[in-house]
Amino acid sequence: MKLCLVGRLLAAGWLLAASFAAWSQGDKVYAQHCSACHQPDGSGTVGLAPALKGEHWQKLSQDRTYLPLVVLKGLAGRITVNAQNFVGSMPPWAEQISDADMAELLNHVQALQGFAQGAPYRAEEVAALRANPGSPMSSLQLRQRILGAR
Ligand code: HEC
Repeated sequence: MKLCLVGRLLAAGWLLAASFAAWSQGDKVYAQHCSACHQPDGSGTVGLAPALKGEHWQKLSQDRTYLPLVVLKGLAGRITVNAQNFVGSMPPWAEQISDADMAELLNHVQALQGFAQGAPYRAEEVAALRANPGSPMSSLQLRQRILGAR
């Protein structure tokens, strides 16, 4: 009887560990830092945070520095996403997320968007962009340049 209980506990523990292991590091970092505002599937929250997917990412992801720069340096100002306006501000995440975790996170976001252009992000690429100057305002300017808006 006792053995049986131990066996069951072990089995439950193993199942839990196995399902957690099925989560990649990118999933975990996204769940920890991003999904509260952008939702687990990246569909966004009306009035709070934009969807991370949509047609405009076909263009935005042509500049592979945009996604990492927004997350590292933040974004502020008026943007239109899927016909909704946001005048919000996203803080920079450079202080909270390491290069390796950031690379995994960016690959996770690209997977949510349903398409990834080019090779997966790597820690070295994140480190190089982190060292660049940047600000929430410069991210906005880059976004406008890529989309050719105003
Ligand atoms: C407190 C809420 C909040 C959290 C948490 C948050 N964001 Fe944001 N995010 C925003 C807002 C608000 C904007 C839009 C800013 C604006 O209106 O200029 C935004 C914009 C973005 C954009 C640009 C979208 C576009 O269309 O250009 C990306 C990419 C993004 N966030 C990714 C992330 C990732 C990855 C994380 C986790 C590390 C994260 N965000 C965490 C609120 C948040």
